[in-house]
Amino acid sequence: MLDVLTIGAACVDVLVRGLGRFDPEREINPARQVELCAGGDALNEAVVLTRLGKRAGLLAALGEGNAADFIAGQLSHAGVDLSMCHRDQHRPSPVSVVMIRTDGQRSFVSPPPESLPRLPRELRLPKAKVVTLASLYQPPFLDLGFALSCARQAKEMGAVLCADAVCPPGAKMEQYRELWPLVDYFFPNLEEAETLTGERDPERAAEMILRFGVGTALVKTGKRGCLAKNQKGSHQSPAFLTGAVDTTGAGDCFASGFIAGLLEGEDLAGCCRLANAAASLAVRRIGATAGIESRRQLQDVLDGK
Ligand code: ADP
Ligand code: NA
Repeated sequence: MLDVLTIGAACVDVLVRGLGRFDPEREINPARQVELCAGGDALNEAVVLTRLGKRAGLLAALGEGNAADFIAGQLSHAGVDLSMCHRDQHRPSPVSVVMIRTDGQRSFVSPPPESLPRLPRELRLPKAKVVTLASLYQPPFLDLGFALSCARQAKEMGAVLCADAVCPPGAKMEQYRELWPLVDYFFPNLEEAETLTGERDPERAAEMILRFGVGTALVKTGKRGCLAKNQKGSHQSPAFLTGAVDTTGAGDCFASGFIAGLLEGEDLAGCCRLANAAASLAVRRIGATAGIESRRQLQDVLDGK
């Protein structure tokens, strides 16, 4: 039995750090650092949760070729259960270039969605205590039937169901109307919450999310931390402020910390603290998962060491 099954994207990221300005007309665009990393929301969460001592499995479409082999190697090295990963023989695993400008903002160069490796439509989920849909509004969850099938199976096995989102402009809550009542915890950032609900204020956005049947809405508010809201009330949890170097993966680490809290039997406030602490480790280092080493290191952040 897994502690957690993460479902979503796995890819290769080429991280370019310290790029002043990118000009495609220039022969060379100097950067401070260029690094190869396995990435993707579901992969990041599975890796981080494994480092936090949880039994994590990844369900993602892997393609063919070098990028897929690199991803599989990184996952095995990290100790993630990749037996549910599906090898699509017809499409390569995606490689994205992530340009991190000197002001810390990111710009992506990504392959077209139709080239992404795919999962079979009918899948039997393995037993897990927590199931997380790493990013709604993204493949493989653009297929509502697939998202619903995962969610229903999670509920049938008695798992806690979490979901994150990466929202394109125009994304709306209505797109997943049937799914929301099955979701126990939903983790949009403030910008996404605003896109989805039209509400700029985190309280009001969370309230709107709850109206669609979500158990608890967690609106991530960057340096301010997060707002958690459910039928019992709302709770503001501050971030663990630190020198932010690269916010890639902050959201994924937030979700991972939160899920670690659920698995450890923490209450909502405790889960939020773990989420913010894990995210603060993520932003301190370049890359999505590099900042998080162990549960003990996370404990040091919580203890103010
Ligand atoms: P996302 O990364 O999904 O876009 P946010 O920008 O809200 O979402 O960041 C997610 C979480 O990362 C926040 O809730 C917070 O815990 C943490 N975080 C973001 N920026 C900082 C920062 N400068 N210092 C410490 N923690 C941060
Ligand atoms: Na996010």
